[in-house]
Amino acid sequence: MRKVGAAGLLALLLAGAALAAPAAPVHWPSVKSAVARDPKIEARIESILKRMSVEEKVGQVVQPDIAFVTPEDVRKYKFGSILAGGNSAPHDDNKAPAVDWLKQADDFWKASQSADWKGEKIPLIYGIDAVHGHANIVGATIFPQNIGLGATRDPELIKRIGEVTAKEMVATGFDWDFSPTLAVVRDDRWGRIYEGFSEDPSIVRSYAGKMVEGLQGHAGTKDFLGAGHVIATAKHFVGDGGTAGGKDQGDNPSSPAQLRDIHGAGYPPAIQAGVQSVMASFSSVRGEKVHGDKELLNGALKQDMHFDGLVVGDWNAHGQVPGCSNTSCAASINAGLDMFMAPDSWKGLYENTLKQVQSGEIPMSRLDDAVRRILRVKLRAHMFDKGAPSTRPFAGQFQLLGSPEHRAVARQAVRESLVLLKNARQLLPLSPKTNVLVAGDGADNIAKQSGGWTITWQGTGLTNADFPHAQSIWGGINEAVTAAGGKAVLSADGSYSAKPDVAIVVFGEDPYAEFVGDRPRSLEFSPADKKDLELLRKLKAAGIPVVSVFLSGRPMWVNPEINASDAFVAAFLPGSEGGGISDVIFRKADGRVNSDFHGKLSYSWPKRADQTPLNVGDKNYDPLFAFGYGLKYGQKGDLPQLSEERPKGGGLPEGVLFGRGAVPQGWSMAFEPASGGQIKGVDRRAQEDSRQLTWSGTGPATMAIRANPPLDLSRETTGQLSLVVDYRVDSPPTAPVTLSGVPITEALRSAPAGAWHTLTVPLGCFEKAGEDMKNLKVPFAISTAGQLKLTISDVRVLSATVAQDQCGAP
Ligand code: BGC
Ligand code: BGC
Repeated sequence: MRKVGAAGLLALLLAGAALAAPAAPVHWPSVKSAVARDPKIEARIESILKRMSVEEKVGQVVQPDIAFVTPEDVRKYKFGSILAGGNSAPHDDNKAPAVDWLKQADDFWKASQSADWKGEKIPLIYGIDAVHGHANIVGATIFPQNIGLGATRDPELIKRIGEVTAKEMVATGFDWDFSPTLAVVRDDRWGRIYEGFSEDPSIVRSYAGKMVEGLQGHAGTKDFLGAGHVIATAKHFVGDGGTAGGKDQGDNPSSPAQLRDIHGAGYPPAIQAGVQSVMASFSSVRGEKVHGDKELLNGALKQDMHFDGLVVGDWNAHGQVPGCSNTSCAASINAGLDMFMAPDSWKGLYENTLKQVQSGEIPMSRLDDAVRRILRVKLRAHMFDKGAPSTRPFAGQFQLLGSPEHRAVARQAVRESLVLLKNARQLLPLSPKTNVLVAGDGADNIAKQSGGWTITWQGTGLTNADFPHAQSIWGGINEAVTAAGGKAVLSADGSYSAKPDVAIVVFGEDPYAEFVGDRPRSLEFSPADKKDLELLRKLKAAGIPVVSVFLSGRPMWVNPEINASDAFVAAFLPGSEGGGISDVIFRKADGRVNSDFHGKLSYSWPKRADQTPLNVGDKNYDPLFAFGYGLKYGQKGDLPQLSEERPKGGGLPEGVLFGRGAVPQGWSMAFEPASGGQIKGVDRRAQEDSRQLTWSGTGPATMAIRANPPLDLSRETTGQLSLVVDYRVDSPPTAPVTLSGVPITEALRSAPAGAWHTLTVPLGCFEKAGEDMKNLKVPFAISTAGQLKLTISDVRVLSATVAQDQCGAP
């Protein structure tokens, strides 16, 4: 451990070495968990452990993902746990019904019980990311993402949400939730900002224990990990919300004291409430990957804070420790990790870990300690007595998923989470007895109002039909207005025949998760086409009062949109209960306020698109709306005209290989050989925003975009993202054409010439075609020996729904 005495500390300070030398270590608080050590459990652990073979012990510390493992494998390797990742589901169907999830849980459980154990049969535990309700499963109650919950400032509500989530999980056979996320997010560019409750440690501190109690039940009572409860996970330990530039899986440069006091604020209360697992972070702290950081995992967490549950890894995150790979990492176990999350890498990892134990590279005492912790959690959770998942209390009660009672809790959460940023001339609350136009692409779009980690990992590829127990924002408005005798009309593009009394425009960010949501360049809300802003301006110009409902996973620079609105509501990502919005923005039929605004910003709102990091307590703190801001009815809500000056520079958004007529700086786009064809600038939406590519047909030629430095798209590839190309065929190919090795001749031949189309190719296809996705020098290459005239306007990497096994026919 990096601990120095007072004298050493003084010497460091005197030497002025605080910046350069290893930062002075600190002690973390000594925490007393409400879950006391139970001598009976401890004795049972020892007796089980004694009868385990070394193979069985290694099996316990490996957690495969259901997309890559079968019950037969579980029987053979006796894994301690399995997980269902964001895109993993029974028979590979993200929309599989609840009954299939439960059956699958039973199949895996039975496999673990029918294995040939040397001693006692150890049941596995099945984990999933129920991070805003059990939202991976069709029909579940979907709560607001944590950013919205942060705005409610309501710890008791957080506990209720935990209880509801746990019950719905148990109904479908799960034991273990990878939640709550206790990130204290300090840079709004981070793609996971919405998973964090706040930029301020005090909010995270006040929620952490409550969510744990809701999920696990009250420590010290019979309720604890009893019927209808699941194991909770405090994640991602530690510093995930403080990486430089908000880069996902990046490096947190905080001093040890900042790490503890800001980023670590949620852990002491979570441990005190009895949280049974902690997930290590993908990120690093001052250059060292947490998955290999003994001082943090063993020192801070286990020694200082007395955490005696299990430390689980993140998705192949051990593979990022220097000297490790996805299939080999003694360093992680030796640093204090107790269970590897090894989704697809479990086989090699199992074999190598076994060898490392046999050679002594992993001391047997460390392996035993890891297994003890896993067994302790399983015994505390009564896993040895619970029987098959389908036989437990609440199991199979699928009517619990999205039950009226559960949805009422979610709807309350929505009401409490909304933050009113502008209310000129007190336009809100609206009378429900008027003619209301409801516009914007978020109005009737439950996926968009729910965000990432919803049915699919990225929350994309969904329609309202995938949400049987949910209401869109339009649905809620229509219900309220119709009941009061008014008239609501849905028109996504905002067109109308009879002029309405008021327009509600629902718009914002499209769903994303993890690194896909990183916005390193700016906080500007800027879909390339600006259609939302145009719509707001058009309505305003027509003399219609405009209410904006903004859906987003983060505070964003929306000054032009705020200027173009009379009232502006930050709704974040509210989830399944769109009705919570109409509850607040409409009066009762008798004219009284129905439900006042309650939410207060849990993240500071920027004044400029490049104003990040921006956090309460900063020197020269100068936000547009400060932390804690949120209007109530009756308060003056007019705003002066806001500056619409965009930041200089800007550049292409992340993931764009070609757009707005350019490739990223330092890259190139050319024919190889140069004589093989010609590139000409042409217009689609703006001047020279596209390129017409003409192959002369004089021999094989490739039009290549070369990245500099090479791109690493390996995570995007496992994450099932796609390359998406907007193209127009001006004259069809005379010979076969490939896109980076993938045949696209048919797509080009069948596309009616002269019209714009979108080609979506899963990144996995390029990997199959032999591309090195980790070191991609040419991310885009169209080749043919024949003639072809093709125009492209946009090339980007996104999550798009296509069958991942369809790589195009020649
Ligand atoms: C995420 C974790 C999540 C895990 C399992 C990882 O990529 O970082 O938050 O629990 O996947 O889905
Ligand atoms: C999984 C997620 C995981 C991510 C990490 C996805 O395929 O479904 O759970 O967090 O990969 O790359």
